[in-house]
Amino acid sequence: MARRKKIYEGKAKILFEGPEPGTLVQYFKDDATAFNAEKRATIEGKGVLNNRMSEHFMTGLNTIGVPTHFIKRLNMREQLIKSVEIIPLEVIVRNVAAGSISKRLGIEEGTPLPRPIVEFSYKDDALGDPLVTEEYIIAFGWASQQDLDDIVALALRVNDFMSGIMYGVGIRLVDFKIEVGRVYDGDYQRLIVADEISPDSCRLWDLKTGEKLDKDVFRRDLGNLADAYTEVANRLGLMPKNVGNGTGPTLVS
Ligand code: TMP
Repeated sequence: MARRKKIYEGKAKILFEGPEPGTLVQYFKDDATAFNAEKRATIEGKGVLNNRMSEHFMTGLNTIGVPTHFIKRLNMREQLIKSVEIIPLEVIVRNVAAGSISKRLGIEEGTPLPRPIVEFSYKDDALGDPLVTEEYIIAFGWASQQDLDDIVALALRVNDFMSGIMYGVGIRLVDFKIEVGRVYDGDYQRLIVADEISPDSCRLWDLKTGEKLDKDVFRRDLGNLADAYTEVANRLGLMPKNVGNGTGPTLVS
């Protein structure tokens, strides 16, 4: 059988041509990077866990009427998605100060923010994804004012949904990043959540102990990343009950 055509390879995922026009297959790698790929590792099982968790969150979002690119999971590492035109922005929502906002403004990590803060970075690895303002986004034509209003509304709905899901399993959603894509419906365009939602793109802290259960475990050398992600998947009910044969993560279908 001919190998599928690779459309794009990123740091943690690969996109292949999909089976029908307007679809792609998104493959989750085990690679982890931080600080714009200055730090790299392969974390066995990470791709499988993120594929399953992203499926879980995106399916929930689709169900409550927040449109996403997710169609269905195909296997342990791959999901079928809608092909979108990615808006070149990282859309970040923060509930609690951590990471770059703490550094930039000198706010102690863990300080609750007065309201959810939405911010944008321009997706450009060579520039290190710099923070940009709405003025930049509109002036350079990356998105229109109407798009931005829709993007903020989408991001805040994702924040409420994800905060609730996480609260239900004893986790605080500190912040997260989404990407947004355009799809065309005849003459209309719609903006939908794209890329992935997983502990690679969120900060997740245990509500009681403050233990970090996200990619900061890797960024800051705090322990075993796959164990942290497995803990999140477990609390969400996505892991089978009787594992322990040492073959790595297996999933509830
Ligand atoms: P930051 O505090 O480093 O700006 O990160 C904010 C959120 O965005 C955090 O949940 C991690 C996520 N994030 C990504 O998903 N990709 C990135 O490249 C960066 C820098 C952050």
